[in-house]
Amino acid sequence: MVLLYNVLAILLGTAVTLALVPYMTAWALRTIGSNIRSRTEARRELLLNRANTEDDKRKRGEKKDESRAASSASTDDGWEKVDEGQTTPKGDGAVPTHAAGAEFKGVFGFFHPFCNAGGGGERVLFAAILATQKRYPNSLSVVYTGDHDASKDQILANVRNRFNIELNPARVCFLYLSNREYVLATKWPHFTLLGQSIGSLILGWDAFNLLVPDIFIDTMGYPFALALSKWLFPSVPTGAYVHYPTISTDMLSSLHTEVNSGQGLNAGLGKGLRGRAKQIYWELFAKLYSWVGGTVDVVMTNSSWTQNHISQLWTSARIKRGKKKAISVVYPPCAVEELTAKIPVDAESERSRTRNILYIAQFRPEKMHHVIIDAYNAFLKTYKHLAQEDPPPKLILVGSVRDDHDEKRVYKLRLQAQEIKDHVQFVVNAKWPQILEFLKNSSVGVNGMWNEHFGIGVVEYQAAGLISVVNDSGGPKADIVIDIDDKPTGFHATTPEEFAAGFAKALELSGDAAFAMRQRARKSSWRFSEKVFSDAWTSHLEQLVEPAR
Ligand SMILES: *[C@@H]1O[C@H](CO)[C@@H](O)[C@H](O)[C@H]1NC(C)=O
Ligand SMILES: *[C@@H]1O[C@H](CO)[C@@H](O)[C@H](O)[C@H]1NC(C)=O
Ligand SMILES: *[C@@H]1O[C@H](CO)[C@@H](O)[C@H](O)[C@H]1NC(C)=O
Repeated sequence: MVLLYNVLAILLGTAVTLALVPYMTAWALRTIGSNIRSRTEARRELLLNRANTEDDKRKRGEKKDESRAASSASTDDGWEKVDEGQTTPKGDGAVPTHAAGAEFKGVFGFFHPFCNAGGGGERVLFAAILATQKRYPNSLSVVYTGDHDASKDQILANVRNRFNIELNPARVCFLYLSNREYVLATKWPHFTLLGQSIGSLILGWDAFNLLVPDIFIDTMGYPFALALSKWLFPSVPTGAYVHYPTISTDMLSSLHTEVNSGQGLNAGLGKGLRGRAKQIYWELFAKLYSWVGGTVDVVMTNSSWTQNHISQLWTSARIKRGKKKAISVVYPPCAVEELTAKIPVDAESERSRTRNILYIAQFRPEKMHHVIIDAYNAFLKTYKHLAQEDPPPKLILVGSVRDDHDEKRVYKLRLQAQEIKDHVQFVVNAKWPQILEFLKNSSVGVNGMWNEHFGIGVVEYQAAGLISVVNDSGGPKADIVIDIDDKPTGFHATTPEEFAAGFAKALELSGDAAFAMRQRARKSSWRFSEKVFSDAWTSHLEQLVEPAR
């Protein structure tokens, strides 16, 4: 009898303990979190005080400059007149400083371990910090990075030169992570996805031990770091700007595809024992990824393609956790403002444009230049009335050549175009001013690539008022060349014949119809402007700041 009681007691005890494990774990993590917070509190105060002092100094310095030089226009970088709480609308469409914005004096933490890489993702990061600084001029933006070889001044100089973005240096600072190698794919030859995710946990831990932010935002695709933040500091709001899903439903379904269909990188790998193991691993990882995505308070994606994939994986987990904010699309900023300012779309520009067809793309295989040359050839043969105009519409291929492979490709393309060589012009490694000229004086813009995730080049066509003819897939189809005011801004095509027909449709438009389509295209491009980005970013930021206050 006694024995039975003992056994029952032990069983009951075990059950209770097991049931308590999640709570104990949560409690333990929270305790660790508040420990870290109090350990880094002094650094937080120090950095905030330094930011305030430097900012005051800068403002005073600029006031002096202003009184010295009566013409303030030359020193106008948009910062000097930003006084506390004052609304200062600025000329070139910058975000005005809201009165309420001055209130938030805390720390935004941006998790971006490769912030000095100079790519598209970094452009988004710094455009976001700029918008953040304008909306909350008394906040401090901290970037967690692993770029030990670059000082703050060097990084900011790169940002200025490469992206033409001028930040307020007083209110941004860089904290250096020491374990960046853990997120490199090379560190994890096996189970790379999982390994890199563990790596991002290590890096996140590293980041919090440098400083616990008031709001934590991942801009590089490391949601595991955001989850860690939620476990350690439940009250810190988290945000993610996702460029690309770590694992996608395409990857999962490609494993199920039969070998003989031959589609996709991993097609058929689902066969055999190894394949089966891989499938289980990916599916488990997808579950983990979804679970982690459910912890993020505000999620932005860079395109509808990414939104679609992230939603498939994250939405149900988010609903379970009561995260009500929908996963939204915030397009990265493109140089729409500059193109609009430099390229007129009006009656006079209509007269000076050639009828040329322009394709701006690196000479890479996936850009399908050869198909476009075929399409143009078909166009010349099928649409004689257009081909025989004087001067005839030319095909202009503008692109950069990175290496020998590209060079060989251009050589082959020239051979392919030999028979129509008077009609096809190759422009290799053109500089931006020359590209601007081509955008200004051409009529039609082409993009041949299949399933391009976005297509900044197509946005540039639209901003320049070109009529686009694009592959009927990916971002150009879903995001860019869409109807505006219920009317088309260009044409979609798949086969060379369809592309040829697209060129013909664009060139057959009457003067008025073409002009109207150019104006719609320009209007369409505005959705990808710097202004629209910073407005969208700001409104998401407000959702994060609200609970943090
Ligand atoms: C989103 O990010 C991915 C990965 O960097 C990139 O391939 C894609 O072009 C981006 N989309 C946009 C709209 O910039
Ligand atoms: C269009 O611009 C390009 C690049 O500057 C130039 O070479 C070309 O001559 C221009 N064409 C016309 C018709 O103005
Ligand atoms: C467009 O993409 C399709 C795949 O959907 C591809 O077969 C085709 O060659 C592409 N068209 C061009 C002109 O590159």
